[in-house]
Amino acid sequence: MYKLKEIAEKIYYVGVNDRQKLLFENLWPLPYGVSYNSYLIIDEKTVLVDTVDVCYSDIFLKKIGDALQGRSLDYLIVNHMEPDHAGSIRLLRQQYPDVQIIGNNKTFGMLQGYHGITTGLHEVKEGESVSVGSRELFFYMAPMVHWPEVMVTYDPKEKIIFSADAFGTFGTLNGGIIDTDMNTDHYWEEMIRYYSNIVGKYGNPVQKALQKLAGLDIQTICSTHGPVWRENAQKAIAIYDKLSRYEAEEGVVIVYGSMYGNTEQMAEAIAFSLSAKGIKNIVLHNVSKTPASYILKDVFKYKGLIVGSPTCSNQLFPEVESVLSKIEVRDIKNRIYGYFGTFTWAGAAVKRLAAFGENMKWDIVGPPVEQKQGVSPDTYAQCLTLGEDMADKLKEV
Ligand code: FEO
Repeated sequence: MYKLKEIAEKIYYVGVNDRQKLLFENLWPLPYGVSYNSYLIIDEKTVLVDTVDVCYSDIFLKKIGDALQGRSLDYLIVNHMEPDHAGSIRLLRQQYPDVQIIGNNKTFGMLQGYHGITTGLHEVKEGESVSVGSRELFFYMAPMVHWPEVMVTYDPKEKIIFSADAFGTFGTLNGGIIDTDMNTDHYWEEMIRYYSNIVGKYGNPVQKALQKLAGLDIQTICSTHGPVWRENAQKAIAIYDKLSRYEAEEGVVIVYGSMYGNTEQMAEAIAFSLSAKGIKNIVLHNVSKTPASYILKDVFKYKGLIVGSPTCSNQLFPEVESVLSKIEVRDIKNRIYGYFGTFTWAGAAVKRLAAFGENMKWDIVGPPVEQKQGVSPDTYAQCLTLGEDMADKLKEV
């Protein structure tokens, strides 16, 4: 019944779209949904590359059954064990008990832990291959992109890389599967958000994987999330390369919490002076309104970051603290940083913001601005100066 897109000769897309989940990993908003991609190779052997979230296993198994047309499934390649891709393995095994599961030694530890599967395994090591008929599939380890067991699968015949999460993006596939068949505009911001939210902590491992893949002739990227990249394959690689090196555009993210509007007025003053000095990319995020997912995306995107917070119960405003901890976890490098804060009777926020900047080893601009109670003309002027200092520093680099 199911019509399936043929990505290349006898390689079919059998993934699914998730338009129901509100939060990916119960953390990250999905305004455009997300796809869980899986691919089926019909050769002398039949080979499935990754599965899908267990919530979609029913339709997934029906698609595979239609594509196999009565043949059995010989191999399942497990490039990544996170449950959004490995969730259907146990049910797949029940349907196809003779399927051999291809993975590495780390894969198999997780396979036992998550699914209790310990038999019918075919272990592969770095650079090894498996012949499936007219083509040979090669396996390369890509640890920590995004879990330790991650590997990628390369088909030299079609010059396709099955890349696990690498080069993935949020956003469902709305009819079209390959980028050449669709308008891809909205995926690029979502790719940065996906990278910063999910893979952002692992810049060095991503760089190592990219160096390893640089020796392969890659014409098509089949990631586990989002479009199959063909005409944009090099663009997707370039974005992951840039993000994993923590390179950023000229621009400033102002992240602030505000309980009664005073900290917010300071943020507005800083933004005004940044604009007056010619900075065009200025993004203000009120942490009480903008999910951290989007703030992280912009911190990865832009070179400058200015954080403001009131003192609340002798600490940072809690939502500011939450965002800072997410930035610390990702160990984002090479940013220019300024900070400001407010208090009513005893200041704590500015001290914590100072410690954060030191800990990140960032280039710190301007004297921090601290306001007791309502915003005074002096404080307003200091905020303008902080914005000017940031703009000057950005123009230097
Ligand atoms: Fe899409 Fe790391 O799983």
